[in-house]
Amino acid sequence: MFTLTDVSKSFGNRTLFEDLRLTINRTDRLGLVGPNGAGKSTLFKLILGQEEADSGLITRQRGATVGFLPQESAPAGEETVLELATSHHHGDEWQVADGTAVAKAKRILKGLSFRETDFDRPARTLSGGWVMRTHLARLLVQEPDLLMLDEPTNHLDLETLIWFQEYLRTYPGGIVLISHDREFLNRLVTGILELRSSRLWTYAGNYDTFLEQREAHQEQQAAAFKNQQKEIGKLMDFVNRFRAKASTATRAQAKLKQIERMDRIDAPESAAAIVDFAFPQPVQSGHRVITLRQIHFAYGEHSIYRGIDFETTRGERTVFVGPNGAGKSTLLKLLAGVLTPQAGEVDLGPKAQVGYYSQYRTEMLRPERTVIEEALDTPARVTELYVRSLLGCFLFRDDDVFKKVSVLSGGEKSRLALVKILLNPPNLLLMDEPTTHLDMASIDALVAALTEFTGTLLFISHDVYFIRALATKVLHVNAGQLTPYAGDYDYYLEKTKSASARVALTAQLTNGRPTERVIAVGREEAGRPNQKERRQQAADSRKVIADQKKRVGTLESFISSLEKRQLALTAELELPETYTKARRVNEINQELKQVSRDLEAKSTEWESASHKLSEMEAAVVA
Ligand SMILES: Nc1ncnc2c1ncn2[C@@H]1O[C@H](COP(=O)(O)OP(=O)(O)OP(=O)(O)O)[C@@H](O)[C@H]1O
Ligand SMILES: [Mg+2]
Repeated sequence: MFTLTDVSKSFGNRTLFEDLRLTINRTDRLGLVGPNGAGKSTLFKLILGQEEADSGLITRQRGATVGFLPQESAPAGEETVLELATSHHHGDEWQVADGTAVAKAKRILKGLSFRETDFDRPARTLSGGWVMRTHLARLLVQEPDLLMLDEPTNHLDLETLIWFQEYLRTYPGGIVLISHDREFLNRLVTGILELRSSRLWTYAGNYDTFLEQREAHQEQQAAAFKNQQKEIGKLMDFVNRFRAKASTATRAQAKLKQIERMDRIDAPESAAAIVDFAFPQPVQSGHRVITLRQIHFAYGEHSIYRGIDFETTRGERTVFVGPNGAGKSTLLKLLAGVLTPQAGEVDLGPKAQVGYYSQYRTEMLRPERTVIEEALDTPARVTELYVRSLLGCFLFRDDDVFKKVSVLSGGEKSRLALVKILLNPPNLLLMDEPTTHLDMASIDALVAALTEFTGTLLFISHDVYFIRALATKVLHVNAGQLTPYAGDYDYYLEKTKSASARVALTAQLTNGRPTERVIAVGREEAGRPNQKERRQQAADSRKVIADQKKRVGTLESFISSLEKRQLALTAELELPETYTKARRVNEINQELKQVSRDLEAKSTEWESASHKLSEMEAAVVA
């Protein structure tokens, strides 16, 4: 659908990529990855003709339709959510679609966790994240031949993310997506494009296979580099020894030429600087940091909390988990004083100062300032040198600090906002999804900073890696109930007997065991049925549950037979005599690949089926 030939792009003296070649086909499912600021979003814009390449050729297949979701902002005006979701953009006009499109749009909007009451709201009254969801819905309704999505999961909560992931799995067209989310990529893509060192590297397989291949490749490269350096060293010795003497000077010259002609192997990149930095620390608070007493809170008619108590003490790092919409962000906002409860008391402990880092913190940055100007605008008494080294920990190097905020990539903006809060940290830090937009190296930098942090941290995150690295306590938030777990994330998993670390993030708990909600099972709409209807419903749901159980059981036995087959094949592969039969090795490898593909697919199916089952069972209990 697209062919890029020798495309180059740089900003000032920074080369994003040089002589890049890429073909995107109609059936491709590709993940575009790379560190923050590598040029992923820029590459999308070049492909879409929104930005111009310095050189090279980009051709687009005629008649092919392409849908694009940008990383940061998308327009919203007077049109309603439903209108926007069903509209086609034609020049400057929005064209409204027919009835089937409307039905489809409703289904998709629900999948993306919109409530029916939102459908007729003007899009401009939504928060940024929900505007993005509306545009995402619009793209899915349009169903273009190729979807180009720039970090689509940033705007989604985990429950919606899982719905979206499953939707994309059966999407009829091609998909190219930018993401830092390893699991999401693993589920969806069959190839990875990596932007690194101004080049585009392509790999077959999912994200995990990409990591393996890259590691192997980097090891080879490091070894080759070392050899070449040795070789060069030897030649240089020769040159230096014989250059001065007339009788050998020509030979020395020849060797020098030989060095110059060499195809130089790049030095292996050193991993991101391990952060070894004395982060500023807040003044110490008292032992008791904050207390909530008998808090009542409702959004209009919709009650979230009816009398909750909560207390946190100095030095704790607590993660809030629980199903979406159960009030995690609300709780954080109540603690931050961003929301005021209708009744009850928020009592800050002695010398406690609250700082709130929201999902929309980058909106506070001033676009016309440079990175260093913005970072220096802090009440903390710090030198420019110190600020620059903190910026360095967050991977702003050299001239990067003179960039304007307006040109920063999504991840760069988030990192700058983090630097600002870390320069002058409060002793009670409240963070809502701080790792959104961040690449692995920046997440590690943030973990390093927060591990040293001497204050108290309460946070919400979907990133299991980040949670594991930081949380010393877990608070489960659901249906107005807070359940504390006095241990880290693994302790919580163990206590709740959770099978999947990721699913347990949004689990509801019944009798201490996780059950998950599924969005599709009609919620809210149900009126009040009479007794007969209720009995009928109960019978129906028993039948539905039994069927679902059967489905789960069938999948389980299928999976276990696949696993057995996998074991047998691997065992055969390990037999010495197998190796004398090249064809058999080949066959086994082929079948192993197929088996692992099947396993992957069936496991996903099983996950969602058992997810649905527990939801159904929970609905009956309720
Ligand atoms: N107009 C511009 N002038 C100068 N530099 C720019 C301009 N636009 C973008 N850049 C820089 O180009 C680099 C690539 O930006 P891009 O948005 O493509 O990164 P990205 O790979 O998408 O990163 P992220 O993962 O953070 O989204 C960034 O370092 C950014 O600061
Ligand atoms: Mg980007």
